[in-house]
Amino acid sequence: MLEKIKETATYIKNIIKSEPQIGVILGTGLGGLVEEMKIEHIIDYKDIPNFPVSTVKGHHSRLIFGEFSGKKLIAMQGRFHYYEGYNMKEITFPVKVMKLLGIEYLFVSNASGGVNPDFHIGDLMIIDDQINLFPENPLRGKNEDDFGVRFPDMSETYSAELIAKGVEIAKENKFTVHTGVYAGVTGPTFETPAEYKYLRIIGADAVGMSTVPEVIVAHHMRIPCFAISIITDLGVPNKIVEVTHEDVQNVAEIAEPKMTKIIKEIVSQL
Ligand code: HPA
Repeated sequence: MLEKIKETATYIKNIIKSEPQIGVILGTGLGGLVEEMKIEHIIDYKDIPNFPVSTVKGHHSRLIFGEFSGKKLIAMQGRFHYYEGYNMKEITFPVKVMKLLGIEYLFVSNASGGVNPDFHIGDLMIIDDQINLFPENPLRGKNEDDFGVRFPDMSETYSAELIAKGVEIAKENKFTVHTGVYAGVTGPTFETPAEYKYLRIIGADAVGMSTVPEVIVAHHMRIPCFAISIITDLGVPNKIVEVTHEDVQNVAEIAEPKMTKIIKEIVSQL
């Protein structure tokens, strides 16, 4: 596995020729950040050795490298989801590659369903903790000691320092932002009303089909993580309506500039 990760990182290094300081994984309908980058290289996943290829509608499948807010950044436009059939090692492979490329921070965005009754559609939620409801943990199997310890501590999975910066920036810009717990589920079904209720009871504020695997692997490698969810629908009693992938994409696209602004300001402060 390590050999494959190294091979992929070497391939990318030979193209980009400088070290990214920041990695970004962009969620559904959240590619707008790329428009604010001074792009230096675009590499399609299909051209990268050992990389899986993303299949979901609304996702590009490419790595974008360039400058953003004064820093060298590598953005994944299109991520790999469990519901597409990838296993946890495949989903998190790019995070390990980004680590070898030199990233010091990981930023993640996603669309999610709000289960906290105080949330509204279009709100932002900075993730301050997570619940892994995938049937697996990406670190299961032989530990890659070069990356991190066998039993990683998870008491601060998301960087408290980055969360504080994000909240402050949101306030300054008068954006409605919550902090809360993200539950990661497999999908591809959205939740039944009973499942939304269950998620609220176990302590989630929002639910989505991504992020948790990548963040576990980044945290294992001691990379400070910051993640932000756009609440695209509500799994709250009496507010549950039929939801489609298109609804999720539409809301995500509307709220996206706020999310990009927050990440941009945090990055400028690093
Ligand atoms: N559930 C799971 N994933 C999601 C949701 C949801 O309600 N909305 C956007 N992604």
